[in-house]
Amino acid sequence: MKSNGNGIATALVVLCAVTFFPQLSNAQLTRDSLAQTPPMGWNSWNKFACNVSEDLIKSVADSMASNGMKDAGYQYVVIDDCWQVSRDENGNIVADPQRFPSGIKALADYVHSKGLKFGLYSDAGSKTCQGRPGSQGHEFQDALQYARWGVDYLKYDWCNTGTRNAQEAYSTMSRALLDTGRPIVFSMCEWGTAKPWLWGKGIGNLWRTTGDISDKWSSMKKWPDGGCCEYGMVDILDQQVGLESFAGPGHWNDPDMLEVGNGGMTAPEYRAHFSFWALLAAPLMAGNDVRSMSPETNEILTNTEVIAINQDKLGREGRRVKKDGEREVWSKTLAAGSRAVILFNRGASETEVKVAWEDVGYPAHLSAEVRDLWAHKDLGASTGSFSAKVASHSVVMVKIAP
Ligand code: GLA
Repeated sequence: MKSNGNGIATALVVLCAVTFFPQLSNAQLTRDSLAQTPPMGWNSWNKFACNVSEDLIKSVADSMASNGMKDAGYQYVVIDDCWQVSRDENGNIVADPQRFPSGIKALADYVHSKGLKFGLYSDAGSKTCQGRPGSQGHEFQDALQYARWGVDYLKYDWCNTGTRNAQEAYSTMSRALLDTGRPIVFSMCEWGTAKPWLWGKGIGNLWRTTGDISDKWSSMKKWPDGGCCEYGMVDILDQQVGLESFAGPGHWNDPDMLEVGNGGMTAPEYRAHFSFWALLAAPLMAGNDVRSMSPETNEILTNTEVIAINQDKLGREGRRVKKDGEREVWSKTLAAGSRAVILFNRGASETEVKVAWEDVGYPAHLSAEVRDLWAHKDLGASTGSFSAKVASHSVVMVKIAP
């Protein structure tokens, strides 16, 4: 009788758990099974910093659902720092009641109703970078709360972590998220300090490789305290060289979010920025005001031919294969054996840039079709090499298919 009673009690617990937390029945969840292609979405930080609210997030979701972004593959709507203000008497994280009066669950439901996914931000330390409560010591409690709210993506920062070991801290939160049974993509924002590419596979789905991007072509400005750095786009790009082999389906290098459309670069520079992030198999997280962007910005962010390179199923990160002063060639191997190639001119005046088939691992006698992914034009077949005139601070991006 006793064991019967236990059996009934166990069955009831399981029934309740599966009814109230249907995600708990998802026993197969592993870290690498998520984000099989680089995550695509939008994050509030680059444009709005701490000025976040439920009205902003709802209107961003509305826009993404109707301006072509959702159709182009953008999925996650992520609130960065400053949504949280305190913890209640039970230690539960509390959202800013002024800025999020309907609560996070209602907001997640709204984003989901638009056919999009919802993301939040926290920090492995006692406080976030903006001094809001961090998750240190509350990892499992916070992860359960996120799962209850319907969170699909967590960006996890590294401020105020003292002497914490990065691998341990990120493993703890990764485990906490997986234990909820809800598929929550885990974005590790450790800035590359502890070389997360060496140990991040199986812990995070993406890891930042550098400090923060800024909306400039190039910069390398020091912080007021002498620490490094404010990086421009090409400064970040240069730091990706050599990290290619660590990326793959479920685990991506993250050179930080996009600045496309924020106003600090020219349209050709933003095209270069977007082309490189696509070729690097980087997460494509837009960081501009997508509610009021120009047609030109929209056209960059929703170039489906370039996005297809980023989302290619093989999941290879592209790499620099040639550098000749200001002229560079970058190449990404695609599932079908073809290559996405960027001809890059970092210099101040127009120049011709050439890719030889040997640069991308093809024999010189091979004939291959070349297609311009920004002009959306077939350029015909070439044998042995392809070259094009490239304007200053610009790219020509082509697909080469033998
Ligand atoms: C750090 C991160 C940024 C952003 C801010 C928020 O600087 O690297 O991407 O999340 O914190 O405070």
